[in-house]
Amino acid sequence: MTLETVGDIESLRARVRQWRAAGERIGFVPTMGNLHAGHLALVDQARSLADRVVASVFVNPLQFGPGEDYETYPRTLDQDREALAARQADLLFAPPVAVMFPKGRGATTFVEVPGLGQELCGAFRPGFFRGVATVVARLFNLVQPDLAVFGEKDYQQLILVRRMVEDLAFPVEIVGVPTVREPDGLAMSSRNAYLAPDERTRAPLLYRTLREVVRRLEAGENDYAALEADAVETLKAAGFRPDYVAVRRAGDLAPPEPGTRELRVLGAAWLGRARLIDNLPAVR
Ligand code: PAJ
Repeated sequence: MTLETVGDIESLRARVRQWRAAGERIGFVPTMGNLHAGHLALVDQARSLADRVVASVFVNPLQFGPGEDYETYPRTLDQDREALAARQADLLFAPPVAVMFPKGRGATTFVEVPGLGQELCGAFRPGFFRGVATVVARLFNLVQPDLAVFGEKDYQQLILVRRMVEDLAFPVEIVGVPTVREPDGLAMSSRNAYLAPDERTRAPLLYRTLREVVRRLEAGENDYAALEADAVETLKAAGFRPDYVAVRRAGDLAPPEPGTRELRVLGAAWLGRARLIDNLPAVR
């Protein structure tokens, strides 16, 4: 099966213009490639909500910090194209860096979401969410989709994109899709490939630890700091290097009040060379 693939702005716009002229609704799934079942669930969701599905594969240099894995991030475009074709995507946009950031990565206009962009993962990866917001804004302007689909796996990213769309009045509906997991509970991620075999066996502890926090919250515990500290200890004792475990308000990731009913438990921890993230809802 083949899937039409374009890397330049003119071809992308020409194809989308044609669909739009025919009155078709366009769904968009932005990715960095190396697609797994989590990404493909987003494609299925877009497929069910839109007439046409555009996916992008672009390893965005703006969202990698110095010393992070930009150079070694897995690039598997041929496999990705096959997988997208099998899920009935209509178009793959896979631009080179020079098309996305013609002035160079340091010279482009950027989008910064205040507060949210600097917290949680943003506190540990300075510039990360600025890079995400900037590339997503540019992709939205290039594709001009009616809706765009993001995974709850990257919950802070999902909330940040919603916030950017609201603040900058992008005419794009943002759709969230639940996290797709391995049978042992580990959230699927391209970066799981960085885990050594013994680390892979231990990796689901992040998910199980967050589940325990959810259990205690749903049992009525209100001391968020104590719950977070216990979770961090559990992870440390098992050889993880946790960045944070945090209980937040689900809608906007603000610190919760004692009576907040819809919560989100989020965690990030290093295991070997891999930085794992995960999150779960808790409702009271
Ligand atoms: P990437 O990590 O490739 O993820 C692309 C999309 O797939 C994101 O919306 C992410 O949340 C979703 N996703 C990844 N793993 C998932 C899983 N196990 N279950 C459900 N959804 C999952 O996120 C990015 O790329 C980039 O930051 C991007 C938005 C493309 C901007 O560069």
